[in-house]
Amino acid sequence: MTIRAVVKGIGHYLPERIVENAEFEARLDTSDEWIKARSGIERRHVAAEGQTTSDLATRAALAALADAGMQPDDLDAIILATSTADLTFPAAATMVQANLGMTRGFAFDVQAVCAGFVFALANANGMILSGQAKRVMVIGAETFSRLMDWTDRSTCVLFGDGAGALILQAEDGSGTNTDRGVLASDLNSDGRHRDLLYVDGGVSTGTTGHLRMQGRDVFRHAVEKLAQTAHAALDKVGLTGGDVNWIVPHQANLRIITATAQRMQVPMERVVVTVQDHGNTSAASIPLALSVGRDRGQIKPGDLIVTEAIGGGLAWGAVVLRW
Ligand code: UT7
Repeated sequence: MTIRAVVKGIGHYLPERIVENAEFEARLDTSDEWIKARSGIERRHVAAEGQTTSDLATRAALAALADAGMQPDDLDAIILATSTADLTFPAAATMVQANLGMTRGFAFDVQAVCAGFVFALANANGMILSGQAKRVMVIGAETFSRLMDWTDRSTCVLFGDGAGALILQAEDGSGTNTDRGVLASDLNSDGRHRDLLYVDGGVSTGTTGHLRMQGRDVFRHAVEKLAQTAHAALDKVGLTGGDVNWIVPHQANLRIITATAQRMQVPMERVVVTVQDHGNTSAASIPLALSVGRDRGQIKPGDLIVTEAIGGGLAWGAVVLRW
């Protein structure tokens, strides 16, 4: 008998305010055509003044709990993937824990930028397999709008705010790749590329800072590394692109999503795409896409799913799971 971390519930939250590409045309040298053609993005949600990452995460967490039919104290742990925690510390996850009224277990943040949800999911799986926790909520939540330099057209049109959450529970499996739950993961980072995508603020500067990105270089790494990491994770459990029902990729750029699917020989009909409506929500993008994909009726129980993401660090990775 093998223990598996199986998805029991999922939910998401998007801030009310929607910013269409046209809004940028009025104040920047850009166009709806350029943004759509180069990134696939048409609109993004932006948090209201005073609305924090932990607020968004709490809304997604409540939706996931309702979906699973669970109470906050049914959870043993909350792992929140974010690069935009409300404060330098404590972890935004502890704020979510308090907001939910959860009085037991433990909560902490994972910071691997856009790959954060993949890293958090792999960690949650490890905790369940080691017997440290039976039920873990994994959240991706971000307010990247707070990191934008609104005069920099090469970045500010790309990002958005949002949150998604899923609940994993320990269940018995057969130990084969037909089991439901997390089947494999592949995590990587290479700090030599840390200057390609970073925020020029933090404890060392005494400022929050703004996101800075060498987009073309990140694009090049993404196209090469995402298919590689997805294949590496699938290989671990004897599966290939042909076995995949859904790629649920990090939603940064439709051209990266398409190129990765092509390299994996998976047709676009089997890729969950939300980038047109959400923009790049960093660590929130995969749980948002999983939740929306489930709500659209795309993702069904038993489906084999590959998630893959890359971002600042560079950090990248993939998780293979059966829904
Ligand atoms: O989530 C974390 C990981 N991040 C990513 O995966 C993002 C990866 N990178 C990308 O998605 C793409 O590189 C971008 C969407 C950021 C940019 O697309 P691109 O096709 O790589 O364009 P580019 O950076 O090569 O820029 C092409 C031109 C430049 O003008 P010149 O130098 O050719 O005259 C830019 O100045 O487009 C210009 N440009 C814009 N024009 C209109 C850059 N931003 C804009 C804009 N509107 N918003």
